[in-house]
Amino acid sequence: MPKVTYTSADGDVSVLEGNAGDSVMEIAVRNGVPGIVADCGGSLACSTCHVYVREDDLGLLPPLEEMEDDMLDGTTSERRANSRLSCQLTLSAEDNLHVETPESQV
Ligand code: FES
Repeated sequence: MPKVTYTSADGDVSVLEGNAGDSVMEIAVRNGVPGIVADCGGSLACSTCHVYVREDDLGLLPPLEEMEDDMLDGTTSERRANSRLSCQLTLSAEDNLHVETPESQV
């Protein structure tokens, strides 16, 4: 089962398991992780699922597509080199990903 560790801007940590094929956003929403709003439900139209991915984990992720890249320019919290939209991060069974949620999504 894939595992995701979510750390909030305040330092609160949630470690959650999901199913292969889930996105990092879906696991967060299903478990009420604060800091992930996901207004559009994963259709790449809101940027409120913004996360900062731990540097060591960046290589595990699919490359940034143009549409996600454009949407990342509209995030409320600053965009960083490790910014991704969590609805675009689909997990496979062995994944063990660490993300930080930004201070604000809206
Ligand atoms: Fe809206 Fe990710 S949930 S862009």
